[in-house]
Amino acid sequence: LHIAVLMGGWSAEREVSLMSGTGVADALESRGHRVTRIDMDRDVAAKLAAAKPDVVFNALHGTPGEDGSVQGLLDLMGLTYTHSGLATSVIAIDKQLTKLLLVPAGIPMPGGRIVKSETLYDADPLPRPYVLKPVNEGSSVGVAIVTAEGNYGNPIGRDVAGPWTEFDELLAEPYIRGRELTTAVLGGQALGVTELKPKNGWYDFDAKYTEGLTEHICPAQIPDDVADACKRIALDAHRLLGCKGASRSDFRWDDERGIDGLFLLEVNTQPGMTPLSLVPEQARHLGMSYADLVQAIVDEALE
Ligand code: DAL
Ligand code: MG
Repeated sequence: LHIAVLMGGWSAEREVSLMSGTGVADALESRGHRVTRIDMDRDVAAKLAAAKPDVVFNALHGTPGEDGSVQGLLDLMGLTYTHSGLATSVIAIDKQLTKLLLVPAGIPMPGGRIVKSETLYDADPLPRPYVLKPVNEGSSVGVAIVTAEGNYGNPIGRDVAGPWTEFDELLAEPYIRGRELTTAVLGGQALGVTELKPKNGWYDFDAKYTEGLTEHICPAQIPDDVADACKRIALDAHRLLGCKGASRSDFRWDDERGIDGLFLLEVNTQPGMTPLSLVPEQARHLGMSYADLVQAIVDEALE
């Protein structure tokens, strides 16, 4: 096959996407496919039209790339592509829209409200501790945990660096103490549950992409009922949102509250494919190599 791998772009996750895309392109070449690597810029439509690929592997993360815009372009161009389509992407990239769809369907997610960043200088939107995050970024870009002691020792203020100075609006959610879990879905199956144990505090950008900063426990050493719930919720969320290809559902689990302490945070429709990423790790645990996984995602796109 001739496969165009779309990567890079200009989202906050550009560098992560370049790592994902390079890994994917190398794997596809190792399988004998002809690969055109496209670092997305404003001429992406012209580049795709010139390449005329049989299928596009979307290795983009963040906005744009994961948010429906690129999916809409590919639809208009009549190109077949991996992962989720336009409508799913528009909803899933937005953490608040995702809640509006999944919570009424019975999926446990933390309550949240959108706040104007300006108002944060005057008052807390929720009792501390709480989390502030942009609705449509990934890899923990722009996330802050506001604790009783302040934001890691600092009060929110105009002079304090934080997402409130970069984003006009933020999603505020209660902070869920406890543990970080994740489940990948591929081919109508939940692949497993991984626990992430960051060595310094929390699973932020550096902890995600620096070797050695986070311990990955796969499969997670957690009670069966919690592991089963992660898999069931990840599968339900994947289906309710209409995801295609691979998705990854991220959870917090308050282990003092048992099964009632499990909350889905979000569904990633363009999960990372870097050397430290979690979908490849869960696939490997099931005996599926990185190249097998990439091929399976392409095969699902062609179905
Ligand atoms: N946003 C990153 C790429 C992930 O979900 O893996
Ligand atoms: Mg994400």
